Amino acid sequence: MRAVVLVGGFGTRLRPLTFTTPKPMLPVGNRPIIENLVSMLSQAGISEVVLALGFKPEPFMAAFPDGRCAGVALHYAVEPEPLDTGGAIRFAAQHAGIDDTFVVVNGDVLTDLDVGRLISFHRETAAEATIHLTPVDDPSAYGVVELDDTGRVKRFVEKPAPGTAPSNLINAGTYVFEPSVLERIEGGRKVSIERETFPALVAKGSLFALSTDDYWIDTGRPDTYRQANFDMLDGRRRISGCDAVAVGAEVDSTAEVDHSLVAAGTKVGARSVLRDTIVLPGARIGDDCQILGSIVMGRVESEANVVDCVIGADGIVSAGTKLASTSRPDPSQS
Ligand code: GDD
Ligand code: MG
Repeated sequence: MRAVVLVGGFGTRLRPLTFTTPKPMLPVGNRPIIENLVSMLSQAGISEVVLALGFKPEPFMAAFPDGRCAGVALHYAVEPEPLDTGGAIRFAAQHAGIDDTFVVVNGDVLTDLDVGRLISFHRETAAEATIHLTPVDDPSAYGVVELDDTGRVKRFVEKPAPGTAPSNLINAGTYVFEPSVLERIEGGRKVSIERETFPALVAKGSLFALSTDDYWIDTGRPDTYRQANFDMLDGRRRISGCDAVAVGAEVDSTAEVDHSLVAAGTKVGARSVLRDTIVLPGARIGDDCQILGSIVMGRVESEANVVDCVIGADGIVSAGTKLASTSRPDPSQS
């Protein structure tokens, strides 16, 4: 079976990181999100992954020059213009010639779901499309689903106003589709699978959903992106954890790395302290820095103090600067 992975969004909520690196190419547990995701798909026997590319396709092609990722063959489908989720699925599936049951995954979701179980459920119910669901406390930032006892979807509401969601079960971003779903998506224009296609399938009674309590996170915001890394580091995933300091990172022997991840191709200077921080490829951290709760892709010069910040590839924190996000008060100020 083949899978389409949506990787063409702008990653707006993860700017400035995504100004230079598309969201699915950002590392979680020291390997790109897309590699984590393809690895999950390969465990379910997916033989080829079609990347639905749009914004910044080049970094994907450069990262997998032999056209393989986690042992799975890749097919690159680059949209001429952003077509939104539904338009992108249709474009990519047709580009790859998909004409059988297939899987779709949002390229920023990490989960321990057994995709094979979702496929079995899809076949048992003879659904036209099946969605993986997960329970969350605040469903308003997601697609929210109301089900009947058989798993048939009675309602799908994308991003309902706070307090109006019909349940706490949300679209977790992994689907199984029959090829007939593609015929429901109009070509050549933007189509949202969530706002147009799912409600149309609900009206036909052919959309089903399976809720599981497997590990699940959408890495699309700075706090969840950081959390996804910590979950890997702290061994909260079914798959094995990761090293805090990747092979190929130059970390001075006097630096302190406390509950943080440091990627290959980075430098951390003498006596610097990293706490609850993600250091991304290309980052340079000078001597005697204190970095807390941050994500760093750029340069932090010596004796700088950085709290709860996201520093993009072009960002420079000058020597001695104290930089703190306004969302959290500086603990040194009473
Ligand atoms: N190729 C392509 N073209 N990909 C796109 C486009 C496009 O025009 N627009 C978005 N994508 C990709 C993004 O890169 C991402 O991998 C995926 O589609 C979903 O987009 P997000 O922007 O991350 O959506 P979301 O997180 O707000 O909501 C979606 O995911 C939630 C679960 O995490 C929806 O599917 C919700 O219903 C769902 O609950
Ligand atoms: Mg998302």
